[in-house]
Order: sequence, then C-alpha cells, then structure tokens
Amino acid sequence: MLDTYSREINYLRVSITDRCNLHCVYCRPKEGISLQGHEDILRYEEIIRVVSIAVKMGLIKVRVTGGEPLVRRGCIEFLAALKRVEGLKDISLTTNGIFLEEFVRKIFDAGISRINVSLDSLNRDKYFKITRGGNLDAVLCGIARAEEVGFFPIKINTVAIKGFNDDEALDFARLAAEKPFQIRFIELMPTGQKMNYGEEYMPASQLIEKISQKFELEPLKNKKNRSDGPARIFKIRGGRGEVGFINPVSDHFCHTCNRLRLTSDGKLRVCLLNEAEVDLKNALRGNCSDEELEKLIREAVLLKPKKHDEVCVENSLKKCLRNMSEIGG
Ligand code: GTP
Ligand code: 5AD
Repeated sequence: MLDTYSREINYLRVSITDRCNLHCVYCRPKEGISLQGHEDILRYEEIIRVVSIAVKMGLIKVRVTGGEPLVRRGCIEFLAALKRVEGLKDISLTTNGIFLEEFVRKIFDAGISRINVSLDSLNRDKYFKITRGGNLDAVLCGIARAEEVGFFPIKINTVAIKGFNDDEALDFARLAAEKPFQIRFIELMPTGQKMNYGEEYMPASQLIEKISQKFELEPLKNKKNRSDGPARIFKIRGGRGEVGFINPVSDHFCHTCNRLRLTSDGKLRVCLLNEAEVDLKNALRGNCSDEELEKLIREAVLLKPKKHDEVCVENSLKKCLRNMSEIGG
C-alpha cells in the first residue's frame, strides 16, 4: 500500500476498546468520558475481517491497543485469532500492565511475544497520581513476569512530562542498564486533554542531555529489521537494555510513517495528529463486499497527509481532538 508520498503503509494499530482501568491525566478527563456502547465498538470478527483484507493489500504488522486492551472480554481469544491470519509477520500489544501478571502467560500462549508497557513513573505515589489511582507494584510484577515467561523485546513507554517525571530520567536509564528492556521516552503531545502543555512539554534533547551525564549512550543505527517504529534507540554502554526517544513534536518522523489506526468505533484514522478518518463500521454492518472494504482502506491510505499538523508548544492548541483512549496512542 503506497500512499501519495511513496510511503509504504504496512502497519495497523488497532484499538479494541476505549475503556481503561486507569485515568492518566494526559489521556482522559478526570470527570470521565462518555464511553462507547457495546454496539458502537467493532466486534472482533469485524476487526479480523478488516485485518485479513489489509494483509492481502500489504499489511504485515498489527499492534493491539486500547484504552486498555486487556479489559475487553475475549482479548486473548482475539489475539489467538489474529495470530491465525496468514501473512501477518508481527503482532504485538500495548498495555498499561495492571493486568499483565494475570494474563501474561495466556498472551504468550496465544502466540504474542512482544509487548509494550506504558509506565510514566517508578515512584509509587507519582504513579498513583498520574494514573489517578494505579498501583505501580502491579505493573512492575507484570513486567517481571513477562520477562520470566520469555517476552522479547519488552518495551516501556514513558511520556516525558516536565516537572513531573523529568527527575526520574536517570532512574529509568538505570532500569534499562540493569534489565534487558527498551525504555522509550515519548514527547508529550497536545491531545484532547486539558493540560498546561507549554509548561509540561519537554523535548527529548533535554532528557538525552540528563541521561548522558551518567550513562554513555551509543546510537543504534541498524534499525531496518528491528521493528522500532519511530524511536531513536541507544544502547547503554555496559548495560543490558536500551533507551529510546520518540519525538513527534521536536523532530517529525512523518516521512517514515508506515501506519494507519483503527479506532475502537471502527474508523480508519490516517494520522494521530490529524482528524481525517474513514468510516469502516457502516460498510461492515451494511453487508459490504471485500472489494468495497479494500476501496475504503485504500482511500484512507491516500488521505494520509505529508506531515502532521505543526505543534506549537506555546499556544497549546490541541492537535488531536479525540481522546487517546479511542485511538490507542
Ligand atoms: P514498536 O513497533 O514496538 O516500536 O511500536 P510503536 O512505537 O509503534 O508502538 P507504541 O504503542 O509503543 O507507540 C509508542 C507511542 O509513540 C505511541 O503510543 C504514540 O504516543 C507515539 N507514536 C507512535 N507512532 C506515532 C505516530 O505515527 N505519530 C505520532 N505523532 N506519535 C506516534
Ligand atoms: N502524548 C504522548 N504520548 C501519549 N500517549 C497517550 N497520550 C499521549 C500524549 N498526549 C501514549 C501512552 C502510551 C501510548 C499508547 O500512548 O503513554 O504509552
């Protein structure tokens, strides 16, 4: 699937639910959001149909996201069904890790061996605060269990927030030195949530500077087969793991973009920071043919913009009007 700018689109991120057992401050409003009803979200069979058609068009990689994917009933069976789709080379899951300990063996047995865990603080109180109630120990136990069971790589996503967790940059780097994890700092994006964006945004360069004061970072160049997405990865010299930086704000990686997103309510979103979407649900529920679905998928590919909208740190204009929990990050 080539888009208008000759980028090959072969990666689909699938949000299977907008529900989440956490309420991270940058992701969902405190007062809650109106959740999609049972009928609003795509059924698993509908998702598998879309994926199967997209695979014939060139899709090779699927990441399952949420909300929190593990809160949707039947998630494990869905992962196993995805695994049976012929032609998919890489299936992975992004989770907040709260239910990981309980499900990790089943996820692995379903044939998924790659997970990304969102974790914004290594301090119990701060974790509780940013997630509005989350239990850090549950996540750390889940990650430890994932390591025991044999998941590799285990990637940890940490949204960098100035004044909140920038003082933990070295703690995260130390964790990456001790454990075979890839810890990726993500620049905060101005999403649908109210935040003091201008004050909280922190460019990756500042984190690299902090970490470099204590650790020697060796850039990893050979990214081709590493399925690293947009992250710039560094090995920690003498350590077991890696740190990475995802810089959607300070350094657009749009020219390497290879992805579409399927929202929990059945829209193909063409870019995280652009509102264009193509609805698949109506077609799916209107008995459409595979050819019609293929046409809609192609339409989405061709709608992909060259670059996402410019983010201006100072005026904190929201560049993603939907809540992240409906899109899956
Ligand atoms: P890997 O294949 O394991 O590297 O996965 P990934 O980096 O695609 O998935 P993950 O869910 O771990 O993504 C990390 C985060 O990076 C996302 O949740 C977003 O916050 C950010 N991100 C990933 N892709 C894009 C993108 O295309 N545009 C923007 N603006 N941000 C992105
Ligand atoms: N900025 C950066 N990353 C975000 N995520 C969610 N919202 C934002 C935001 N505003 C990330 C989460 C998770 C991933 C799925 O998306 O931290 O790791």
